[in-house]
Amino acid sequence: MLRTHTCGQLRPANLGDKVTLCGWVDRVRDHKGVIFIDLRDRWGRTQVVIGPESGAETVASARLVRPEWVLRIAGVVGARPEGTTNPKLSTGEIEVACTVLDVLNEAETPVFQPGAADLPGEEVRLAHRWLDLRRPAMQENMFLRSRIVKIMRDHFDELGFIDVETPMLGRSTPEGARDYLVPSRLDHGAFFALPQSPQLYKQLLMMAGFDRYVQVAKCFRDEDLRADRQPEFTQLDVEMSFVEADDVIGVIEGLVKRTAREILGLDVPLPLPRLGWDECMERFGHDAPDLRYGLEITDLTAIAGESDFRVFRAAVESAGRVRGIRVPGAAARFSRKDLDELTAVAVEGGAKGLVWLKVEENGEWSGPVAKNLGGIAAALREKLGAQQGDLALIVADSFDVTCKALHMLRKRLGATLGLYDPNAMHFSWVVDFPMFARDTESGGWASMHHPFTAPRPGDIDLLDSDPAACRAVAYDLVINGSEAGGGTIRIHDGATQEKVFSLLGISAEIARERFGFLLDALKSGAPPHGGIALGIDRWVMLFGRLDSIRDVIAFPKTQKASDLMTGAPSPVETKQLVELGVRVVVPPKPETDRKD
Ligand code: AMO
Ligand code: AMP
Repeated sequence: MLRTHTCGQLRPANLGDKVTLCGWVDRVRDHKGVIFIDLRDRWGRTQVVIGPESGAETVASARLVRPEWVLRIAGVVGARPEGTTNPKLSTGEIEVACTVLDVLNEAETPVFQPGAADLPGEEVRLAHRWLDLRRPAMQENMFLRSRIVKIMRDHFDELGFIDVETPMLGRSTPEGARDYLVPSRLDHGAFFALPQSPQLYKQLLMMAGFDRYVQVAKCFRDEDLRADRQPEFTQLDVEMSFVEADDVIGVIEGLVKRTAREILGLDVPLPLPRLGWDECMERFGHDAPDLRYGLEITDLTAIAGESDFRVFRAAVESAGRVRGIRVPGAAARFSRKDLDELTAVAVEGGAKGLVWLKVEENGEWSGPVAKNLGGIAAALREKLGAQQGDLALIVADSFDVTCKALHMLRKRLGATLGLYDPNAMHFSWVVDFPMFARDTESGGWASMHHPFTAPRPGDIDLLDSDPAACRAVAYDLVINGSEAGGGTIRIHDGATQEKVFSLLGISAEIARERFGFLLDALKSGAPPHGGIALGIDRWVMLFGRLDSIRDVIAFPKTQKASDLMTGAPSPVETKQLVELGVRVVVPPKPETDRKD
């Protein structure tokens, strides 16, 4: 090694030691001829002092040093003078009196200083990710990720899971997103799909007899991105044979407990709470609710049905619902402008508007539509449990729209009213999902999870008689309102799998063409099996109490799925396209974008 110690290592026990350190210049200060350099590496920061006793040559070189230069310094460890120790720094009690200063590499003035408090916008950070990753906070995130993945690997290794790699170049595995495609050079017009998940491969590994599989698996989904979604992300992918839902859940609960203890020093009582999907949608309007706070939804449809208020009538008559949230003591906190903002949130969630009502001192409702309530005013207050000073927010629409709008309002209120401790961690399972949901575009059935999910044993007949009522053996892990994992017990017989394909509008012919290998394998001795995949990026974000998965991915993409550092995706040479048999068709620009 070019060094004897790291920049985070020296302590008072080293006083008098001759040491050599390597690192980046975090800061240089010149105090009346004594130069202080904070030298930084992955391990920490150490103060280096260059004064007259360092020799004229060393002082002269130190004067030239600039932030982010890479140095190797030799010197002697000394105690910092009284009053200059830094308790925030692990090396804060010592400094190194420099005797030799080697410049290993100079650096141009960096676009931003990793050591500085003021940071540029995220685009600049992403474009210069190597600088951004030098920041101690980012390094901590990457260490956290590495520790969490190690806990995961240890946990599954101890339980007898085998780590198997599955292909990146394969056939489409449907998980509900668009595929990333890779053209074949040897078979023009044919494409590989990058895996949306290793779903089918892991099931085939069970059919091959591996019994317990785990993989840290890269997955690719071309979908609209958000703070917790990347086009390329990592799953901790798990599959087990001869199991029921409780077995998979038990293995993951063990991991939750271990991770919370080792990373946060938190004791999570097991078993984790479980919520049925129906109950979840009724109480919170979402299948991954944030349970760190209340603000539960109350159904007001029956009462609203007694009213002449046009907005309520319209919903009730079209078999919709009228549902609301009581926000305790919030009447005075929300101005007209705030309420307009909340209305905009509801409208963003698909609602046509938002009824807001406040309970005044006289115990009566106030608000723009209070007078429209007529005879139901008292019943509404009672059902909502509304007291003087409370605010009520009501949406009248289809069940789905009331869910979405009220969920978004709940989220907004939880954050703006500070209803939870940002350090709190809430883990729960959502179970008993429906097998299918209506596909809004085609009007047909779509899988709620994926087409390989088993119906509840008692619901098999519903596949024929009432698919909407058919429940799946599915379980999602929710942490603080984020879907941190999802899994199911799988269909392990060919006939049920064929039936589910057909319900999803996949003809027998297409099923054979796309999934023939699976159907054949299911008919050649498939064990009952099931599994789960955890979103590793989301786990790290949540355990690191961060807001974006981009902060826990070394080289993430932007919301527009591009890499600002390398410029990917980028055009390729015509020669490459010719080899691949691919012609690029650039769609004409929409009229509004044209300059001419
Ligand atoms: P699912 O689609 O629920 O299940 O994915 C599992 C978990 O992966 C995470 N995740 C994502 N993280 C970041 N960016 C994304 N675009 C993204 N999409 C999903 C979530 C999610 O809970 N094959 C099944 C699992 C199974 O049935 O075993 C699957 O992929 O945390
Ligand atoms: P309008 O008569 O359409 O102006 O609506 C009267 C009030 O009811 C306004 O405050 C709207 O925001 C609200 N509103 C309209 N439609 C709905 C709806 N479907 N659900 C809840 N509130 C609504």
